[in-house]
Amino acid sequence: MYCTRKVQEDLIWVGADDRRLVCFEGVFACPRGMSYNSYLLLDEKTVLFDTADKAVYQQFFENVDSALSGRALDYLVVHHMEPDHAATLEGLVLRHPEVTIVCNAKIKTMLSQFFPGNWDERVQLVKEGDTLSTGRHELHFVMAPMVHWPEVMMSYDSTDGILFSADAFGTFGALNGRLFADETDFFAEHLDEARRYYANIVGKYGPQVQAVLKKAAALEIKTVCPLHGFVWRKDFGRFVEKYQLWSSYQPEEKSVLLAYASVYGHTENAANILAARLAEKGVTVRMYDTSVTPADQIVAEAFRCGTLVFAATTYNNGVFVKMEDLLHDLVAHNLQNRRIALIENGSWAPVSGKLMRELLGGLKNCEILEQCLTLKSALQPEQLEQLDALAAAIAG
Ligand code: FEO
Repeated sequence: MYCTRKVQEDLIWVGADDRRLVCFEGVFACPRGMSYNSYLLLDEKTVLFDTADKAVYQQFFENVDSALSGRALDYLVVHHMEPDHAATLEGLVLRHPEVTIVCNAKIKTMLSQFFPGNWDERVQLVKEGDTLSTGRHELHFVMAPMVHWPEVMMSYDSTDGILFSADAFGTFGALNGRLFADETDFFAEHLDEARRYYANIVGKYGPQVQAVLKKAAALEIKTVCPLHGFVWRKDFGRFVEKYQLWSSYQPEEKSVLLAYASVYGHTENAANILAARLAEKGVTVRMYDTSVTPADQIVAEAFRCGTLVFAATTYNNGVFVKMEDLLHDLVAHNLQNRRIALIENGSWAPVSGKLMRELLGGLKNCEILEQCLTLKSALQPEQLEQLDALAAAIAG
């Protein structure tokens, strides 16, 4: 049975939730599921904006059929060829051989890569600034390269002020019947997952996100329809403020992220004492064990906090693997503008501090504090002063 919702009278959400997804993109845990959004415009012409992941194909096709109510499908606008939105594209075309695909040249190239064949007759190419009139609505196409792949574009409906924003402004998590962000307490309930989604999916591409935010600022936007997560019709400015911070690599808070890797608990003990000293100074500490908390969650917290502390034991003459993975991930996501402090441990040849410093040295505009607390097996009583000094330096 179909399960759809109206965005407005002539625009229907025809997407679906997947709550059995273990790992989005094979790496990001989705304990709250995932939504794959697709929207059908019922104008003089009918327009479907994107398809959906193959995991939800049955629900998706039922939704499209129901919303079309026997009408032909005139256009499919493809904003992004990543299979979480395009895996069912070929199936849609088989069901609707009348459809014209509206996309840019890069999307057409990927279309042929994912679905070999000749798509020339079916595709209508568009570029930045091109428009498509569907009757009452006029669609304007906005290129958004690297948000999150190079072919990505967005559509702006100037008639009703609707931005179809592709992956931008998405979030992890199933919709669970709610469609609009204002049907939830978004900033209390979903901001953490929106941040985790942003940091890991498009965090690397801050300048490209900034470019799209500039384009969006010139539009009169009343409704935002992303490919994942909730539709925005109220309070969108609050979410844009977060995007401005994240995409310019500015922290949301003065808080401290304290991530530690500890094999037998001695590095953890030093991290605990440091956290206590910081808390005594009124500093908010967000603390994670890298052996327990997946790197993508800690990466998201690094986008949130102004100061980052990494404490790791030496392992195989390197950095303990879970911390090494995390730091590689942070560097890959291009994090910038942070203060960083380090604690190392090693029973006979501690080198993790030096190696962490080298790993993080590539981050732009980051200050790595000179003082690195070195533990030999465990924190010694005479080192408490050093720990206090480190806490004072971090608290600033
Ligand atoms: Fe939701 Fe980049 O795909």
